[in-house]
Amino acid sequence: MSLTVDGIEAPAEGTLLDAVLAAGIGLPHLCTDDNLAAIGACRTCLVEADGRIVAACSAPASQFHQVATRGAVVERIRRGVLELTAAMVSPGSLDRPGGPHAGELAAALASHSARLDRYPHRTRTRSDATNTFFSFHEEACILCGRCVAACQELQHIGAIGMAGRGGATRVTPGADATFADSICTSCGSCVAACPTPALSPREAFAP
Ligand code: SF4
Ligand code: FES
Repeated sequence: MSLTVDGIEAPAEGTLLDAVLAAGIGLPHLCTDDNLAAIGACRTCLVEADGRIVAACSAPASQFHQVATRGAVVERIRRGVLELTAAMVSPGSLDRPGGPHAGELAAALASHSARLDRYPHRTRTRSDATNTFFSFHEEACILCGRCVAACQELQHIGAIGMAGRGGATRVTPGADATFADSICTSCGSCVAACPTPALSPREAFAP
């Protein structure tokens, strides 16, 4: 079965996100780490596929023929999702140094000319600097879950989880625990996976 992405032939294998990236086309995918299964939490990977708006990270490529990442409608919808995502972080928090993927959110916002002030920002100030190698800054966290998946699925440790519900949801190494108190082994997989500077290498270990 043939598949085109923005008019470019692409392999109809894996997910539509795999096909888009194989075609050499950039597309935000803030909750999908290249080394991990899709989480499907962020909706920043929306594309138009055979006339439907779908999340590219979880749509099987074999079920579609024509995919468009460009176009007024799909780009406007993605921009809106990105502007809502921007509202999850504090202004200026994306400027902090971070891990190897820490610039992904900022790059996606810039590529979509997303406004950072369209929605009121959530104010969250919790931070954790108890680990020798990295620190956590909730003000830059978009709750994408990549750190949780990296800890659980890549390292099989499970030191990080999500706690709370709705607007109170947060990343945590355990109920009221710090990273120093937790079973974290300081492997760095969570820092490597984070698409913002929420998890940052300590200065001495920064890339
Ligand atoms: S700390 Fe980073 S990887 Fe973890 S949920 Fe927040 S933004 Fe995502
Ligand atoms: S990358 Fe597809 S929903 Fe997040």
